[in-house]
Amino acid sequence: MEKIVSLCKRRGFIFQSSEIYGGLNGLWDYGPLGVELKRNLKNYWWRVLVHERDDVVGMDGSILTPPAVLEASGHVKGFSDPMVDCRSCKARLRSDQLVEKRGVKQCPVCGGRDLTEARPFNLMFKTRVGPVDPRWSGGAMFPVSAAGATGPAGPVSSQAEFRDTRTLTAGTTIIHDSASVLGAEDETAIAYLRPETAQSIFVQFKNILEVSRKKLPFGIAQIGKAFRNEINPRNFTFRSREFEQMELEYFCRAEDGMKWLEYWKDERIRFYENIGIARDKLHVLTVPDEARAFYSKGTYDIEYDFPFGRQELEGVAYRTDYDLLQHQKASGKSLEYFDEETKQRFIPHVVEPSAGVDRTVLALICEAYSEDEAPDEKGKMETRVVLRLHPRVAPIKCAVFPLLKNKQPLVAKAKEIVDLLRPHMFVFYDESGAIGRRYRRQDEIGTPFGVTVDFETLGEKDPALRETVTLRERDSMKQERVAIKDLPSILISRIR
Ligand code: GAP
Repeated sequence: MEKIVSLCKRRGFIFQSSEIYGGLNGLWDYGPLGVELKRNLKNYWWRVLVHERDDVVGMDGSILTPPAVLEASGHVKGFSDPMVDCRSCKARLRSDQLVEKRGVKQCPVCGGRDLTEARPFNLMFKTRVGPVDPRWSGGAMFPVSAAGATGPAGPVSSQAEFRDTRTLTAGTTIIHDSASVLGAEDETAIAYLRPETAQSIFVQFKNILEVSRKKLPFGIAQIGKAFRNEINPRNFTFRSREFEQMELEYFCRAEDGMKWLEYWKDERIRFYENIGIARDKLHVLTVPDEARAFYSKGTYDIEYDFPFGRQELEGVAYRTDYDLLQHQKASGKSLEYFDEETKQRFIPHVVEPSAGVDRTVLALICEAYSEDEAPDEKGKMETRVVLRLHPRVAPIKCAVFPLLKNKQPLVAKAKEIVDLLRPHMFVFYDESGAIGRRYRRQDEIGTPFGVTVDFETLGEKDPALRETVTLRERDSMKQERVAIKDLPSILISRIR
């Protein structure tokens, strides 16, 4: 894992968040290459789950979530992990992270045995929406402008008006004088950072059903940030406090729930294979009855053999009609589906494949990392670090090199090729250093193809080779000679 973490930092995939200030545990920033890898993964997920299907539509919900939603879903009461404190070293631990030696639980940090009882720790981040009372926030309040927007117009007097955050739950704007809100400040201002993207899909179910005019079975897909105040973030980005999810809620009839659960488990395995994860490193765990959410009739965890052990990449859960029923009850709004053929109204059941973007990015990097032997400039064998990323997720698809940087015709032709490819893919131009070094730099960041412009390209050695280049493949290091005009179609077919 150390080599992978070091490569991620050295080459600009992943950095510790706010590193120059010492960082904050469990938060990560993606650098220039990491953001491309992540984006390619999300785009491919969206392509196969939304664009290539007739039965799925997308949405993008807000992150700030009113308590009512998360009370109905059960998160306010029950979204917690059991937490234990070590009295010796003061470490805060998830109780499943304790180590057990000869039947006695110990702190994994200091080995101490003086541990508190486990108690539930709610994982949601709570925040406040709207202007807050400066007496407890230390901040300033801002008045509502004529247009209704709040702005930094300076601290307001106790008589000034400002927007009551009850707009969030009630859907209407209530204007109070600040004195009344100061008194009420408070529960109405609370919002949570969503702990999963799923709930906004359930809450928007009726609107999306109406506008999309879909018939069962159909799905709603979403990719977005989720936040969990993990007790012990660890294993690089694997368990973070801020992460992204790719979630599909696939609505169906009750009698078809188990069938769709199997279908989506198989589809999701195929997805991981299609982004380059070896089938023998993927495992399907049937979550046992006692470990499943009480409302789920069946759950699979798709796991991957990370260097730090076999761990969950994605959950595929048959959640029955629990979520829609809960929101229907709590909101008082009907979330029923009307079947035009049978004239029946009912709450659909749902199967949910829920994947982590960051975990999948980490799995892709772990899977791709390899070292092999390759000859250097003088033909001496040296260790080559290669990221064998699948071309469809690789950050840079093709690097273009003029053989020599001080030969103007080579440089001009290489830049022409960059312009030819750029509308179709992310291309990188590099003219500095020996050609072998340039190949190595691209191998290390997973660029699957390299195009070299040489004297043959200019027709100097053999006129038949004019307007041709060498196309090098990263993994095999094999080179083929191809016509420049064919490059876009050849590369597009290999990176899709
Ligand atoms: N809506 C269902 C749901 O959220 P989950 O198993 O809690 O289910 C789904 O989360 C996926 O989200 C996980 O399989 C994992 O890939 C990702 N995930 C969950 N917590 C995470 C964390 N703290 N850091 C990174 N990814 C996380």
